[in-house]
Amino acid sequence: MQPQLLTVQQHILEEQRRLFPDASGEFSWLLSGITLATKIVAAQVRRAGLAGILGVTRETNVQGETVQKLDVIANDTLLQFLGNRGNVAIMASEENEDPVIVERDRKHGKYVVVFDPLDGSSNIDVNVSVGTIFSVLRREPDPTGKRDTLADVLQPGTRQVAAGYVVYGSSTMLVYSTGNGVHGFTLDPSIGAYLLSHENMRIPAEGTIYSCNEANYDGFPAGYQRYLAHLRQGGLGRTYSSRYIGSLVADFHRTLLKGGVFLYPPTASHPQGKLRLLYEANPMAFLAEQAGGLATDGQGRILDIKPESLHQRTPLLVGGRSEMETLMEFVAKT
Ligand code: AHG
Ligand code: MN
Ligand code: MN
Repeated sequence: MQPQLLTVQQHILEEQRRLFPDASGEFSWLLSGITLATKIVAAQVRRAGLAGILGVTRETNVQGETVQKLDVIANDTLLQFLGNRGNVAIMASEENEDPVIVERDRKHGKYVVVFDPLDGSSNIDVNVSVGTIFSVLRREPDPTGKRDTLADVLQPGTRQVAAGYVVYGSSTMLVYSTGNGVHGFTLDPSIGAYLLSHENMRIPAEGTIYSCNEANYDGFPAGYQRYLAHLRQGGLGRTYSSRYIGSLVADFHRTLLKGGVFLYPPTASHPQGKLRLLYEANPMAFLAEQAGGLATDGQGRILDIKPESLHQRTPLLVGGRSEMETLMEFVAKT
């Protein structure tokens, strides 16, 4: 018998029907903007190395079109397919200094979507996994259309109604949560659909991998240095390996599947941390908590941080619950 195939669209509709029988279906329509856009980005990422042999010269390709960098293509694609949903009032992206207002839906749009269109973009040229990260916030309607749009974006992570990412890796995979567990869907390129492949993902309780940019080690606060030494010396009763890809999506995805910890602490050059709160740390923190893990900035929960600016940075420490609790003890002693 054929195995039961479940697309992400069916999954979200069924989840909504089960948990919110009165839901309008608007959210699944929003999500379909993300799935469509990321399939287009995936197709572009898969062709990334071909530009050189398809006749591209400098800024212009064979058709005389300007060749755009993938992060710009990814950004334009997301802006287009989220901006035409009819329910997204505001979008904010790593690639745009200010929030992008959808004038048509500014008054009544129920949602704000914040995203990192192409995460890990420096890895593109070396054929290593990259990703897209998104965070969906609800907003109150604004019948006058006069409210400060930035205030609608600067909401703490606890207010996310959904978050997720797509990893363009050896396969393309969408991982998302609406607050009812974390679910993963693998893109079947032959039919162009994201199919449920990882239901109810949980971060393993005891991992054996730590992940950080160790070149920054000397600039980490002492508590982090001691914690890493503790892991290396078998202090948790098992042997650790180190893995660091340099694409948050890929490093987080491995942490979700295999366990362990991912750390981007404050460093000498980035005392506030390097990663961005709204479109990197918050969505990953939401997923981590939904998968039974923890995410902190070294002081407290990432999701409780009250954002002050759109591109604000934060330290990000995320992983399995008990490893994170030990980390917090080490950091507190600094
Ligand atoms: P982006 O490509 O969206 O600018 O993000 C890059 C980020 C993130 O993906 C990764 O975790 C981090 O930068 C790596 O930073 P280092 O090179 O400092 O390790
Ligand atoms: Mn990024
Ligand atoms: Mn990016």
